[in-house]
Amino acid sequence: MIDIRDYKYSVSAAGRVNLIGEHVDYCGGRVMPCALSLRNTVYVRPNGEDVLRIRWTDLEGEAVLRLDRLPAYKDLKHAKYHAGCAALWREAGHRLVGCDMLMDCTVPFGSGLSSSAAIEVSTLAALALVAGERIDPVEIALLARRAEEEYAGVHCGIMDQYAAANGRAGHAMLLDCKTLACEYIPVALGDCVLVIANCNKPHSLVESKYNERRGEVEEALAILKKKEPISCLAELPPKKLRGYGSLLPPILFRRALHVCTECERVDLAARAMRKGDMETFGVLLNASHASLRDYYEVTGTELDSLAHAAQAHPACLGSRMTGAGFGGCTVSLVKKGEEEAFKAYVQERYQRETGYTPTFYPAELSDGIVVQTL
Ligand code: GLA
Repeated sequence: MIDIRDYKYSVSAAGRVNLIGEHVDYCGGRVMPCALSLRNTVYVRPNGEDVLRIRWTDLEGEAVLRLDRLPAYKDLKHAKYHAGCAALWREAGHRLVGCDMLMDCTVPFGSGLSSSAAIEVSTLAALALVAGERIDPVEIALLARRAEEEYAGVHCGIMDQYAAANGRAGHAMLLDCKTLACEYIPVALGDCVLVIANCNKPHSLVESKYNERRGEVEEALAILKKKEPISCLAELPPKKLRGYGSLLPPILFRRALHVCTECERVDLAARAMRKGDMETFGVLLNASHASLRDYYEVTGTELDSLAHAAQAHPACLGSRMTGAGFGGCTVSLVKKGEEEAFKAYVQERYQRETGYTPTFYPAELSDGIVVQTL
């Protein structure tokens, strides 16, 4: 029997929903994620041994990781994240202490709501805590991103781990991924609410397709750099990019066009949010989805069906896929009081079109890392 009172601390980190700014974090762009109340919680206690002993509330068995062999665990399905976090924590010059961890995750796996970032960030915060060290959410986000890259093989940007660690209840983070300057914007939606919907298509190959897109935009940047004094694609206004239509192979041009136009939409969306202009915010959500569908090609049949169903409902001001794509979730802006009718309509139409049943989650915006002594 698992009893959480046997542990010393609980440390949790948030899943995230990105409102806008998709596939631009690794291009030096700005993003607008919010931390969710869906979270990964680590119950932790030092064990006086040179091992990490990891258990899960929803999995059988345990993983025992020797602290002197951490890089050897890269192929473990679940515990590779913990091995990566611990190895990088120590490599960064911190004290690594053997401990028992119990993982309890309410972020649905494969949903595009960043369960892995929540796991990595909460694990690192737990390691800091048992070592008696200060929890620095920005350093933890950076180490967590490296764990994702080096131990899970996803060449991701910083958005998810930053949001998991630094989120603030009721706020979005307008995060500049080039400088890590972050401005917290109150999410004031007037007479609207956010509704998150999971398309529930079991997806595969997300990592390889994600890495492929990243390679494409890097190629586009290398070509454009010969003409423009830019260090990242986010620095190039769409108008300038359009002038280079003949310089880039068509696929690379479309990829870059998504990135440059999405960066512009983020700035407009931040302005609309500050003014409480939900109509404009909704229009930008729809435009973001269309760009991810047509130029970046990361949506797919199910996410398109789900977003288009949402966009067709009269109480919906805008809807788009959120996260890496290729499956996962949409986020929609819906008139308050109309949520149930909206969900019923979307569910019926999406089911009819795809055969899958969506799951809806309330978007409660929460803090990033939260620590409790038990
Ligand atoms: C994944 C990655 C992020 C970001 C998004 C797309 O969630 O982990 O870094 O690139 O996809 O915006």
